[in-house]
Amino acid sequence: MAEAGRICVTGAGGFVASWAVKLLLSQNYVVHGTVRGPGDEKNAHLKKLDKAPENLKLFKAELLDYDSLFASIKGCDGVFHVASPVPSTSVPNPEARIVELIQPAANGTLNVLKACSEAGIKRVIYVSSGAAVSLNPSWPKGQVKDESCWSDKDYCRATNNWYCLSKTEAESKAFEYAKGSGLDVVSVCPTLVFGPMLQSTINSSSLVLIKLLKEGYTSLENKLRMTVDVRDVAEALLLVYNKPEAEGRYICTAHMVKAQELVEKLKSIYPDYNYPKRQVIPSAFTEVRDEEHLSSEKLQRLGWSYRPLEETLVDSVESIKEAGLLN
Ligand SMILES: NC(=O)c1ccc[n+]([C@@H]2O[C@H](COP(=O)([O-])OP(=O)(O)OC[C@H]3O[C@@H](n4cnc5c(N)ncnc54)[C@H](OP(=O)(O)O)[C@@H]3O)[C@@H](O)[C@H]2O)c1
Repeated sequence: MAEAGRICVTGAGGFVASWAVKLLLSQNYVVHGTVRGPGDEKNAHLKKLDKAPENLKLFKAELLDYDSLFASIKGCDGVFHVASPVPSTSVPNPEARIVELIQPAANGTLNVLKACSEAGIKRVIYVSSGAAVSLNPSWPKGQVKDESCWSDKDYCRATNNWYCLSKTEAESKAFEYAKGSGLDVVSVCPTLVFGPMLQSTINSSSLVLIKLLKEGYTSLENKLRMTVDVRDVAEALLLVYNKPEAEGRYICTAHMVKAQELVEKLKSIYPDYNYPKRQVIPSAFTEVRDEEHLSSEKLQRLGWSYRPLEETLVDSVESIKEAGLLN
């Protein structure tokens, strides 16, 4: 079968990127996957994907090392820039916030984009986040947030949302760079990503689900969760890559559900796990009105659709069980 094209996926061994690699290989793309440890056990799943032996080439690259990125990107038509630190807890140390989070996210993204310009890449898909959209206290109350809404960097700092700051900083720098250089950059901003894991290590968003099943919390904040399936995120990346008319940002979200509803749904399918013990207590987040959610209308107009939440939850739990993480 003829090669569909050649795409570099950064951070290929991660949760989202592994599904992007799998999808690209299934559609006959040749994939340059960047990983920090090509020989590490945590990246072994990549080599087992269908068509990986012929069409997946792994490169050792670090986001703050320009030459390693350029060597991985050279010869490709497009780049999916997925790699970024995703901590599972808050980052209290001010030095660590800069060195481990903000610099790899923002300076790392600029390195990727510069390497793309030098390599003559046709289009870059940058995986941003709903975290770069939603933290904006000035957004009109009750109005659905679309792609024109940006998280407020000062507000992220004031509320210790360092991951949100890192993604907002990186995405805004990416578009500034695109404007100045003429590089074609399109971003996709997924909300909380659930779904089956291909990788053997636990990523932060899957941990949210594992904790709900296992931790036996005494109580739980009834936060509003906007979720999307990892397989639908991968489809979104390929869709915006292939649609010539795609431009700017695309919010990628499917289901809006409060933590309590999520627990009830899980319990109705899997009654026997160690769910939060007491009735879920309300919190300030309960006050988030439904109309204030993010909208994926722009992405849907491009042809994107998503699967039912139940399918995502069942496939997630089955994958977590299979990995032996609920024992
Ligand atoms: N999961 C979600 O709910 C969610 C929601 C919205 C947006 N996103 C975005 O989606 C992307 C992937 O997230 P994920 O959930 O798949 O997380 P993940 O499984 O933790 O993947 C992150 C990847 O980034 C790589 N990485 C981190 N720092 C790096 C550095 N300095 N140099 C090179 N590679 C580096 C990691 O490589 P190592 O394996 O070597 O550490 C890993 O492959 C991120 O950009 C994240 O912000 C995720």
